[in-house]
Amino acid sequence: MLTVAVLISGTGSNLRALLEAARHPDFPARIVVVGADRDAEGLAHAEEFGIPSFTVPFRAFADRESWGAELGHRLDAWSPDLIVLSGLMRLLPASLVARYTPQIINTHPAYLPEFPGAHGVRDALAAGVTQTGASVIVVDDGIDSGPILAQERVPVLPDDTENTLHERIKPVERRLLIDVVRRIATGDLALTH
Ligand code: GAR
Repeated sequence: MLTVAVLISGTGSNLRALLEAARHPDFPARIVVVGADRDAEGLAHAEEFGIPSFTVPFRAFADRESWGAELGHRLDAWSPDLIVLSGLMRLLPASLVARYTPQIINTHPAYLPEFPGAHGVRDALAAGVTQTGASVIVVDDGIDSGPILAQERVPVLPDDTENTLHERIKPVERRLLIDVVRRIATGDLALTH
């Protein structure tokens, strides 16, 4: 059974979908812990599903390196086989990425390498494209630059706002993420970097 740690910053809708998938007895992965870099709304999903959680507040540390050291320490306690960044809005320090690579994956609301970074949905809208997408990638020490594991196109509609477009992308992200985690767990998908 693949053990998974999930890291979030926000509402945790992708986390919730993963928790729902993972509670089925035939799903080949288990979420063992959920972590956050702030007092994230999505931590409530972990509590509801009886999954332990922790918060390592980014702002409580002098720099990214010391924050990442504490985060790594908290993750190590669970020895996860896989770490899923599910809306974690912080870059991990290179030292933490190096320690777990290639076992860290990230879900992103754009068709990478298009529109990397913290505002993938906003940037796609601003560019005036007619389609964007969702991607699941292996995390490397760049910004959304690691190997692509799965991705799918999503249309941009003429009257879309950042919110309506993001809400159209999120269900696609959820489906891709659950499928990628399942395929990693069954050995159908090998992680490389
Ligand atoms: C998701 O769309 C995720 O891809 C995005 O944050 C959202 C979190 O939603 N992550 C990034 O943009 C990372 N660059 P959620 O908290 O409802 O799952």
